[in-house]
Amino acid sequence: MNNKIILTGDRPTGRLHLGHYVGSLKNRVRLQNEGAFDKMFVMIADAQALTDNFACPKKVQDNLYEVAIDYLSVGIDPEKVTMFIQSEVPELTELTFYYMNLVNVSRLQRNPTVKTEIKQKDFEQSIPAGFLCYPVSQTADITAFKANIVPVGEDQMPMIEQANEIVHTFNRIYGETLVECCAVLANSKLEQRLPGLDGNAKMSKSLGNCIYLSDSPEEVKKKVMSMYTDPGHIKVEDEGKVEGNMVFTYLDVFSNDELIKKYSDYDSLEEMKEHYRKGGLGDVKIKNVLYNILEEMLLPIREKRKYYEEHLDEVKEILKRGTVDARKVAGQTLKEVKEAIGINYFD
Ligand code: TRP
Repeated sequence: MNNKIILTGDRPTGRLHLGHYVGSLKNRVRLQNEGAFDKMFVMIADAQALTDNFACPKKVQDNLYEVAIDYLSVGIDPEKVTMFIQSEVPELTELTFYYMNLVNVSRLQRNPTVKTEIKQKDFEQSIPAGFLCYPVSQTADITAFKANIVPVGEDQMPMIEQANEIVHTFNRIYGETLVECCAVLANSKLEQRLPGLDGNAKMSKSLGNCIYLSDSPEEVKKKVMSMYTDPGHIKVEDEGKVEGNMVFTYLDVFSNDELIKKYSDYDSLEEMKEHYRKGGLGDVKIKNVLYNILEEMLLPIREKRKYYEEHLDEVKEILKRGTVDARKVAGQTLKEVKEAIGINYFD
């Protein structure tokens, strides 16, 4: 048996942005459309989102539909993919409890992503136990569906590593039951970690340097016009730097020669860069090219979003259907896990 099962998800703590798009969403849609899999799941990780937002559940609740709509807008197709809500699959919580025995606290504290988040969230003095254990719950998410392919952003690599450790430990102690998984990352370093509009290392909601998939054309324009370029490039005639210039960085990610030809007077991005380096090409011009290219990509996403915003009942139905489907699969794995441990008393 060599099934190909894909599972991935996001915490609903905010709307999704261009960083999510190039870092993972695009990959998911590609995998979905290639169709070379037995089953594909996309999960909205609301329970995980509560591990650091337990005091503001409204934020999680408000963003659940935002993320679901973002998924549908970028082209996740509920006919091909099972879309579901984590907290509605209690089997995941039950698995988490048994997996918690298989990892120790110091290993959890060493997880690099968890470590960074503990600093960011000022949890150093007192780490909520639930938060520290979220990689265990993520292991449950992955293994409950016997997923072997997990398309994620590169910050999730430590979760995959930790999940596989738990899988090994489980299988060693209780016998071959769980399946190991592999991450699928975006192709380039730039896509894996799209920098922020301000040139900051990462596009992130907390840094306020994002373009959201749901931004209006006016918002996108305003944000593109505020992007970090080359502070030494003051007059149009000045020589300009391309490296570290966010407009060119984004053009590297989002454009191709065809789009450059369509929206500028150049035949290629290289030619445009050359002109900027030499001097004589102004920032407003390059920003307009980027804006038009981003708009071409965002327009259909925005149209789909509008449709789903007006048909929330449909979104709810999709999630309900997906959750029923997900529970069946997770329930089967839970049964196997309990059998392996030997706590299936009434079977
Ligand atoms: N940790 C992911 C995030 O921060 C969300 C997530 C939860 C996830 N469970 C998962 C991703 C399982 C991939 C597989 O967005």
